[in-house]
Amino acid sequence: MKHAIKSATILCMNAQEIRRAYLKFYADRGHKIIKRAPLVPNNDPTTLFTGAGMQPLIPYLLGEKHPEGTRLSDSQTCLRAQDIEEVGDNRHTTFFEMLGNWSLGDYFKSEQIPWLFEFLTETVGLDPSKLYVTCYIGNQKFAIAKDEESANIWQQLFASKQVKAEMADMGSEADGYNRGIKANERIFFYDGSKNWWSRNGAEESTPIGDPCGPDSEVFYEFSNIEHDPKLGKYCHPNCDCGRFIEIANSVFMAFRRTENGFEALIKPNVDFGGGLERIAAAAINDPDAFKISLLWPIIAKLEQISSKKYDSNTQSMRVIADHLRAATFLAVDGVRPSNKEQGYVMRRLIRRAIRFAFDLGIEQNFLSQVVPIISDLYHEDFPEVAAARDEVVEVLIKEEKVFRQTLRKGLNEFIRLSKDKLTGAAIFKLYDTYGFPVELSFEEAATHNVAVDDQALTDFNKLMDEQRARSQTASKGVFKGGLTGNSLQHKKYHTATHLMYQALRNVLGDHVVQKGANITEERLRFDFAHPQKLTAAEIKQVEDIVNQQIDQDLKVSFEEYPTKQALAMGALGQFGDRYGDTVKVYKMIADQADKPFSFEICGGPHVDHTAQLAEGNKRFKIIKEEASSAGVRRIKAVLA
Ligand code: ALA
Repeated sequence: MKHAIKSATILCMNAQEIRRAYLKFYADRGHKIIKRAPLVPNNDPTTLFTGAGMQPLIPYLLGEKHPEGTRLSDSQTCLRAQDIEEVGDNRHTTFFEMLGNWSLGDYFKSEQIPWLFEFLTETVGLDPSKLYVTCYIGNQKFAIAKDEESANIWQQLFASKQVKAEMADMGSEADGYNRGIKANERIFFYDGSKNWWSRNGAEESTPIGDPCGPDSEVFYEFSNIEHDPKLGKYCHPNCDCGRFIEIANSVFMAFRRTENGFEALIKPNVDFGGGLERIAAAAINDPDAFKISLLWPIIAKLEQISSKKYDSNTQSMRVIADHLRAATFLAVDGVRPSNKEQGYVMRRLIRRAIRFAFDLGIEQNFLSQVVPIISDLYHEDFPEVAAARDEVVEVLIKEEKVFRQTLRKGLNEFIRLSKDKLTGAAIFKLYDTYGFPVELSFEEAATHNVAVDDQALTDFNKLMDEQRARSQTASKGVFKGGLTGNSLQHKKYHTATHLMYQALRNVLGDHVVQKGANITEERLRFDFAHPQKLTAAEIKQVEDIVNQQIDQDLKVSFEEYPTKQALAMGALGQFGDRYGDTVKVYKMIADQADKPFSFEICGGPHVDHTAQLAEGNKRFKIIKEEASSAGVRRIKAVLA
């Protein structure tokens, strides 16, 4: 009963209050509160965005001394562009805040876990019987022990609240679905796919040089969510049905990945990350993260503007709220919409928000009404949001206007393409060329009294399928099979092609995109978009840049990434987002450089070091530059 009374008062704590209480809780325990890092990392060529609270702290987690000491805490704004298409369910967002606390070789499990438990159950007032935890099961291959220490601490904490918490070995996620949860079980051991933390996943995928270690996650149970048996027979904490939501993760960062395994860090660290939005959803015991105080006001505004209800327009409203919040913070952090890297992601977020607004019948500019609401939610706690307010509104509404112009072009084209009736082919062209939402084509047809072909939707879907099949075949053929042979000469020209592609972009601009390539043992041939002939000076500049990269002996290596991640990281790729699920990305980087010179999706093969291109005193030389087709140039180049 005591608990019920307590939670009744504390349940009112909203997301902003949870953030403030969290920072105070850790300040009271000797932590320095540090400022959030911007969404665009300063010195990290491997990612486009800050995607976890620990990212800005990597050097310190690896042993560098932090000027503020060994106990740090913050609320770090994060962006995970790779989640963009997941948004729409009750918990995924691209933008979120990660509450963080760090011990840089200071305290460890026996302080971290009890503090976290106290914060969640006493400060926020979560019911401890709704909390479930996971720990690391260990790994024989790498001789890393099972984390019984953490499990024992958790068990005692639950016992202190009279909550039964038996332990069980779960194993992998698949094992979890087969086994489920037995009576009184609350602490589960999973393998490295779930309870090993690195920036890239399980033990073996940990990037070389990165800090990493076993982790212990806390899940909140939303008991009113029924398990979905399509996912697997039984529900378990790592099940995807939404009944259990991960709200917090303590990483016991005791290792660093080496070429062959793991070495222990001299002083192990704690890296804690808690999802502010999810903890706030747990505090109101509502599995819908969009109901919390940092998102609901945006939804309420959308309800007002559209005169539609959230309950019947849930997905669209969630997408708009998430994307505009993310775009607002990107603008605060200095990003501007563009066609590359972070600017491209920002543009995509804004355009998707506008397209989803069509579903709500919002066809006029509306960002000027929504963006200030978002600023208001953050301006007290993040002064930079207040300072940039007018500028941010301006940036976003400018992009809104640009996009509406593109849509207008699409509308003109619509009229041309649908003179007699609207066909699937016309809908496909409008969609493919003008980014014209499919629903909009149907609506326009109704407005203009244009008849719609009976087969329109079927034909459209067929064209989409064909396009997908084409691009998959293309990506398989070119990238998995190999554009080139395997001889050393082939590899050299292949590597030279990557260097030249980047050099062309540096000299001419980012509109230079690859249109084709062909490599023999004698030369490379490369087609690319560019409106006019290259001048002699431009050709010389491109040659010089390539030769410099050869002289600097860049190291050439590759890694496989999920396609979305590779593109979000800014990898160059000829087929936009039409690759298969994973791609190889080749990186060419100078010793000491903090950014690779070239970062490109490709199946290989390549040489290992660019200096190999100069073997036999060879230099890179462009021998021909000519038009290939309208707006496309063709270069032939040799190593001679
Ligand atoms: N770095 C940890 C995470 O992202 C806390 O989950």
